[in-house]
Amino acid sequence: MKSPLITACLLALAIVQIGAQDDYCFGKDNSRPQTRHFTSKTAYQIAKSSNIEKQYLVPGCTAQKMWIFHRHGTRLPSKSTIQKAPRLEQLRDLIAGNYGKRSDLPANTSTLCMEDLIALKMWKWNTSITDDMENYLTSQGYEDLRGTAKTYQKYFPEVLIKEYDHEHFMFRHTDTQRTTESFKAFTEGLFGANSGAVAEDIPEKDLLLRPYDYCTSWSSQNYKNAGSESDKFRNMALWNKTLADVSARLGFKYTLDASDIELMYDMCRYEQAWQVDRTSVWCAAFLPEQVTVFEYEDDLRYFYKSGYGNAANSRLNCRAAQDMLKHLSSKTAPNVVSYFGHSTGVQTLINALGINKDEVPLLASNYDQQGNRKWATSKIDPFAANFVAVKYECEADTENKEKAIFFLNQDAVDLSWCKVGLCNWNEVLDRYSHLLNADCESYYCGDGANAIGISLGALLMTAVVYLINLM
Ligand SMILES: *[C@@H]1O[C@H](CO)[C@@H](O)[C@H](O)[C@H]1NC(C)=O
Ligand SMILES: *[C@@H]1O[C@H](CO)[C@@H](O)[C@H](O)[C@H]1NC(C)=O
Ligand SMILES: *[C@@H]1O[C@H](CO)[C@@H](O)[C@H](O)[C@H]1NC(C)=O
Repeated sequence: MKSPLITACLLALAIVQIGAQDDYCFGKDNSRPQTRHFTSKTAYQIAKSSNIEKQYLVPGCTAQKMWIFHRHGTRLPSKSTIQKAPRLEQLRDLIAGNYGKRSDLPANTSTLCMEDLIALKMWKWNTSITDDMENYLTSQGYEDLRGTAKTYQKYFPEVLIKEYDHEHFMFRHTDTQRTTESFKAFTEGLFGANSGAVAEDIPEKDLLLRPYDYCTSWSSQNYKNAGSESDKFRNMALWNKTLADVSARLGFKYTLDASDIELMYDMCRYEQAWQVDRTSVWCAAFLPEQVTVFEYEDDLRYFYKSGYGNAANSRLNCRAAQDMLKHLSSKTAPNVVSYFGHSTGVQTLINALGINKDEVPLLASNYDQQGNRKWATSKIDPFAANFVAVKYECEADTENKEKAIFFLNQDAVDLSWCKVGLCNWNEVLDRYSHLLNADCESYYCGDGANAIGISLGALLMTAVVYLINLM
């Protein structure tokens, strides 16, 4: 029989142990700020702004036209991630094993709280998600787009009218399940089910919505392999320490492969976006300060892949930017142009328009300075990211009747040359004249030097041919 003293001592020990574990508990954290920092896998509901409520109404102005570039909503993982799901079940069991005897856990690291551990032990992969469904839009993804349609319609009912009209609206999406479904969800949000809304035909070579598929100089750039800033970051002490800390907290006596940690992190982000009001057990594996490190690595990669890290990126979306400027300048239908595309499309459009540009480029070495960077893909490019340009007619301003506001995820873009987001259209055309006048065919994937010259040359040729025909 144990003496009461020993029992009391054991009890005290147990309490001390519980005390030591009690530093962070994802399942009990009601604010979960790190879920706002999941880069391109951030849930739209978390990333969207509510500022539009105060910004959409401009005194003396009425909205006339809209141009929308919408990323698809929350999707399933790629085939390779779906195929790795059994590895997650192994990791789950290994972690459960590590926690079998708490006294075996390292004393100098924080540990999972009981609630997170229990949830993790119960985790199962949803086996009805098979790899032939890779990248499919999820039901939440459908809701994302139905929701943005209703939101924008609430603010701009005179433009986003409730009755589908083939002249008034022009829709187009890429050749994928997730953008096709996103288009359907968006039109269902606007017009209700079975509206008969149709999308434009998708050309064989979709240079408008997927220019990056046809530019080899762009796709061969090194944004993640040896020598890239992302690679440098992944070789720094901070990165190594983060992987070691995550592993230790999960009870491993060695550092897990980066691929295992990335897999857990991906599943955390996907599950969190699929069911926003639940918690993904895999998110419990990461402390907020570790998420901040992963977020930076992702932002670094995107910065060089489709952001300001490479000058060529700003020209890639020439056609979409030009399309926006031309559509909003024209006084004729369609009044609403809406495209459904992908992450790279959103990011290169933002880049072409000079939005969210930092003065100091993102580097592996300046992580500490970049805490307030503008290039934060969690804010720019979550699931269902949307760029919405609204053209206004302002009778009150006789000099500048035409104005525009650019909304990014329901927040007015604050360009330095606009007034709290409200831009004079003349100035828009002026600032973006290099895009408006470019011959995108040569500009979008070239070095950008001769684009306007070539365009003039082509014009001359046309004139010559015309004259010859007259003779
Ligand atoms: C905890 O202690 C082990 C063994 O002494 C050491 O290798 C490890 O780096 C320590 N971890 C932290 C986070 O201090
Ligand atoms: C499992 O995945 C399928 C296919 O995406 C989905 O319809 C179903 O709701 C999911 N089940 C659970 C329990 O999440
Ligand atoms: C981080 O880990 C990698 C791979 O193990 C190694 O090559 C690199 O030298 C480490 N970096 C530092 C600063 O310790």
